[in-house]
Amino acid sequence: MNGHLYDVIHRRRDVRGQFTGAPVPPEVLHRVLAAAHAAPSVGLSQPWDFIVVRDAAIRAAFHGHVEHERAAYAATLDGEAARRFAHIKIDGVRESTLSVVVTYDQDRGGPAVLGRHAIADAGLYSVCLAIQNLWLAATAEGLGVGWVSFYREPFVRDLLGIPAGIRPVAWLCLGPVTHLEDDPDLERHGWRRRRPVQAAVHHDRWGAQ
Ligand SMILES: Cc1cc2nc3c(=O)[nH]c(=O)nc-3n(C[C@H](O)[C@H](O)[C@H](O)COP(=O)(O)O)c2cc1C
Repeated sequence: MNGHLYDVIHRRRDVRGQFTGAPVPPEVLHRVLAAAHAAPSVGLSQPWDFIVVRDAAIRAAFHGHVEHERAAYAATLDGEAARRFAHIKIDGVRESTLSVVVTYDQDRGGPAVLGRHAIADAGLYSVCLAIQNLWLAATAEGLGVGWVSFYREPFVRDLLGIPAGIRPVAWLCLGPVTHLEDDPDLERHGWRRRRPVQAAVHHDRWGAQ
């Protein structure tokens, strides 16, 4: 069982180019969303919601916005970085079967969320754990997930009718894939490399390895 979990953790990839667009059976989508909903949350606030977006027109509108933000980011790059970025695909919004937009409601469980009095971000951390559960469950189901963050929150709020005060945290593309790559796309494109785990672990004090 543990071996299986580790296998899923290491097989998980962020997917943009390998979506097939094939259907996701309802029971599979239910299992994936139920796994996300089983995440731990500060004060048991469960501050997340999941908007399942299938509508082609909505996804096309979002994709147009992503292209605009991609161009804005590309304009900040020069030389080699600009050349590399030009070849990197940053979303599979149109090719994937559906999208799941994960939101954060900071008022849920309030006004005094147990454990959030000192660290306001603990609510947001909880939403990210739900996202990771979703990502791993989808991987275990043989699906791919791609997190798209090239957007402005007000645009997504307007597009999906998300009430004021609720933040869109992630736009996730989800669906069957031809395969999962062995290495992150950004490594394959020479953008950046993973650090070894030893470099991330400190003993007793910062910097003591
Ligand atoms: C918060 C967050 C936002 C991300 N946003 C994007 C994005 O907008 N476009 C994209 O192509 N990948 C995005 N990614 C994917 C990362 O580039 C990817 O996780 C990283 O390169 C490691 O690759 P792997 O997930 O395949 O291991 C995002 C990942 C996270 C965690």
